[in-house]
Amino acid sequence: MELSIDRLQKSYGTSIALSDFTGVFSAGVYGLLGPNGAGKSTLMNLIAGNLKPDAGSIRYDGADISRMGKNFRAILGVMPQQQGLYPGFTGLRFLSYMAALKGMPKSRAKEQIREVSEMVHLSNRLGQKLGTYSGGMKQRILIAQALLGNPKVLILDEPTAGLDPAERIHIRNIISGVSQDKIVIWATHVVSDIESIAREVILLKEGHIAAWDRPQKLLYDLIGKVFELVVPEEAIKDIQDRYLISNLTLSSDGIRVRIISEQEPEDYPFQTVPPTLEEEYLYRFGTGGSAYEDCCQ
Ligand SMILES: Nc1ncnc2c1ncn2[C@@H]1O[C@H](COP(=O)(O)OP(=O)(O)O)[C@@H](O)[C@H]1O
Ligand SMILES: [Mg+2]
Repeated sequence: MELSIDRLQKSYGTSIALSDFTGVFSAGVYGLLGPNGAGKSTLMNLIAGNLKPDAGSIRYDGADISRMGKNFRAILGVMPQQQGLYPGFTGLRFLSYMAALKGMPKSRAKEQIREVSEMVHLSNRLGQKLGTYSGGMKQRILIAQALLGNPKVLILDEPTAGLDPAERIHIRNIISGVSQDKIVIWATHVVSDIESIAREVILLKEGHIAAWDRPQKLLYDLIGKVFELVVPEEAIKDIQDRYLISNLTLSSDGIRVRIISEQEPEDYPFQTVPPTLEEEYLYRFGTGGSAYEDCCQ
């Protein structure tokens, strides 16, 4: 099982959304990480066949997917970033409809619907109308439709968008549970979604691959550049002006600040600490800004 992408390119008019994307995917979760506009959905839509590339190729086990037609669609599951749900449909009707679109015979559809709704913990909610579902349930039923037919390639475009932390964890556990025998590509701009479950992380920046590695290896360039200081509140402004702050927490002895800096900090006692993926993201994609507001205001 191998999805191999070679020099894939896509522009909208004169603006390049994805440039020269090359890489090989095998079973496991891949975190496709980048800020809005990085090209994540463009890549997803190219794999899903919703967009045609300007150049380059996508192959599944050696065969060009544009020539595989329904043979590729049969092994593909897609959860698009934007998908409207008919509020008047019940969960069961929605999944039956999606199974029919995939060309699944009725008996297989029935068995598959049972299976996928169990996976996303919605078995006892299928009789309910989608309009009454919570945000998390809506995302889960969208994941369920992507899982119909036990796809080998599963594409999830921001599956946790708009969800609270508990629902995010729920979805992460579901995906982690189904990922053993699949290529899962999970696009997100939220580092914590994929940090613990991604086998490999692809950092996408302005249509380019900025980095592609195992999560731990991605952090190598930040080792020795993350420092923790404990300072009084009055010092925060000064630190904010001089350093890139990645995190602030209140503690009994002051405010605990994590900063990213090429040089050891001056004027404050510090400890060098191991970097996190969140910090790597911040380091590569720029300013944090709201860390102080999030923590201490
Ligand atoms: N249909 C479109 N027409 C024109 N530009 C588009 C279209 N879709 C995306 N873009 C542009 O392509 C770039 C990549 O977008 P997208 O793939 O949606 O990024 P992401 O999913 O990472 O937020 C952005 O600059 C975006 O504005
Ligand atoms: Mg997107």
